[in-house]
Amino acid sequence: MTKIDNKIIVALDVPEKKSAVDLVVQLRDQISFFKIGLQLYTAEGPALVREIVASGVKVFLDLKLHDIPNTVARAVESASELGVQMLTIHLSGGSEMIRAASTARKNMSILGVTLLTSATEETLREIGIKEKIDNHVLRLAELGLANEINGIVASPHELPLLRRELGDAVKIVVPGIRPSWSEPGDQKRFMTPREAIDAGADYIVIGRPITAHPDPGEAVAKILEEISA
Ligand code: C5P
Repeated sequence: MTKIDNKIIVALDVPEKKSAVDLVVQLRDQISFFKIGLQLYTAEGPALVREIVASGVKVFLDLKLHDIPNTVARAVESASELGVQMLTIHLSGGSEMIRAASTARKNMSILGVTLLTSATEETLREIGIKEKIDNHVLRLAELGLANEINGIVASPHELPLLRRELGDAVKIVVPGIRPSWSEPGDQKRFMTPREAIDAGADYIVIGRPITAHPDPGEAVAKILEEISA
């Protein structure tokens, strides 16, 4: 499997620019897609996003936007100018907010987050939602697609349900991945890279098993081997 067709997105969950750039430089012969989330974006801002895009790799900007429709639309416009490939929004913002994001996007995919994997049924009860998690996740995913988002971020737990109910056309990006040889850490419901791809993931997001490995390049090589075996 070559860099071009591999499905791995490496999460750059590091506190500052140097560690992020070092990882991109180390991995860019093997990996073409990197995720920048709230930690790194809050520390380094759009300048680092531009710099990483300019280095020739693709960027998934995981900001999980959730605000009034006008504010989300303006933020989506700003993100579109950065040259990133994908941006996340929270689907619990409702149809008007989702549509504002879809309408404002330019040359970029909008991915919807349904329910955070840290949430439990107890969390839903606390905020007044009486549904089962699966029903809630599916309803939000359908709301997103009805309002023209491009894909969904789904945990391994939800992936089979969403793939079955939503069909093959929708892009599904799956974090919570642990290669067979790595420590689960705080990920409770994880899948191996191979299991997630077999279950229909378009992309898998992997952070610590690669970034905290003493040799990140070797970790990627082992994962690619595991996927193509
Ligand atoms: O280090 P690890 O592989 O657990 O990193 C997973 C990445 O995916 C992190 O950036 C985390 O924030 C993100 N993520 C997740 N679960 C979700 C959504 C995003 O683990 N439901």
